[in-house]
Amino acid sequence: MPSHESNPNTENNLTQTLPYRFYSDPEILKSEQEKIFSKSWQYVCHESYVRQPGDFFTAEVAGEPIVVTRSKDGELYAFYNVCPHRATKLIDNEAGNKKILQCPYHGWTFHLNGELNKAPNFKGVPGFCPADFSLRHIQVASKSSLVFVNLDPNAPSLEDSYDDFFTDLNQFDFLDELKVNDVKKRTIKCNWKAFIDNFLECDHCPIAHPGFSATLDLDEYHIVNGNNCSVHGSELKTKKGKEALDLPMGSAEVQEGRFYWIWPNVMLTIYPGPGNLSTIQMIPIDHETTLGVYTNFSKYEEPTEERKTQVAFAEQVRNEDVELVEREQIGLQSRAFEHGVFSPTEHAVHKFRDMVLDALDVSD
Ligand code: FES
Ligand SMILES: [Fe+2]
Repeated sequence: MPSHESNPNTENNLTQTLPYRFYSDPEILKSEQEKIFSKSWQYVCHESYVRQPGDFFTAEVAGEPIVVTRSKDGELYAFYNVCPHRATKLIDNEAGNKKILQCPYHGWTFHLNGELNKAPNFKGVPGFCPADFSLRHIQVASKSSLVFVNLDPNAPSLEDSYDDFFTDLNQFDFLDELKVNDVKKRTIKCNWKAFIDNFLECDHCPIAHPGFSATLDLDEYHIVNGNNCSVHGSELKTKKGKEALDLPMGSAEVQEGRFYWIWPNVMLTIYPGPGNLSTIQMIPIDHETTLGVYTNFSKYEEPTEERKTQVAFAEQVRNEDVELVEREQIGLQSRAFEHGVFSPTEHAVHKFRDMVLDALDVSD
């Protein structure tokens, strides 16, 4: 992965942000659903949700209902969560375990590998071939216990798409052992990109995150851009940081905070202390509203006191960020300015800007 990237400059020596209409125009979001969310790997769930035959997990990707399943023979599958008979959404529950998937409308049933099992109202109908009525497959892949789907059948593999991210993540050997402790969903009044922008820089940390700044050594905070990802890290400010996180750090599995963004809308955080992970998904609801899905994992069914302290610490930082991005969205929708500028240390936001422009095939 390259280390600090330079910040290419415009003629007046300052780099411009995305035009603000990109954060306030429903047509731009439509285009993003088509060109970004329908073409990129989208994180769906931790593998623990779909480990046993019959397990399933449903989600929405680019506005499409999808379902990930584990079949009888142990294979992972993903489909549009839509019945091939007359389009009814097949499964409502977010997660669970079923021997067979049954459509609630006319009772067609499907195996977990997507094949049609029975179509009661087509029994004996000449010319009806069950093999023509499987669920519609989509690409699915799991790596480091993280399950992703991609609606684009021609997309490059998950491994190739996020090679730098997975290489870095590989240093943590506890990912397979993690258990979901809680999932929190929050409606945020901002365009999804405003939240990503916020995550991708720490210029705001000394101003907006007093607790975070007192705990992590911001002088050493590093932001490294990789292929379809940005990896951030910082060590604890020795004594103060350990006190804030209430940690006996000598043997802790994680010695440094590690924060990942992967294109386009997922972030993962690993805080110093015992093995832990949180995933943060930013799913657009509309051009000015986003669903934040925060999932906290630890190695135990019930979080330990140390993990609770970590989560409370992270939630404080998240709340501070949500307040910032909702405040920013007010200005992004104002006519006051058409765009802003990047500082040299906002280079990861700049990279994200370029990726959005590339994906949408527009020059700013
Ligand atoms: S729509 Fe599903 S069985 Fe008819
Ligand atoms: Fe922040």
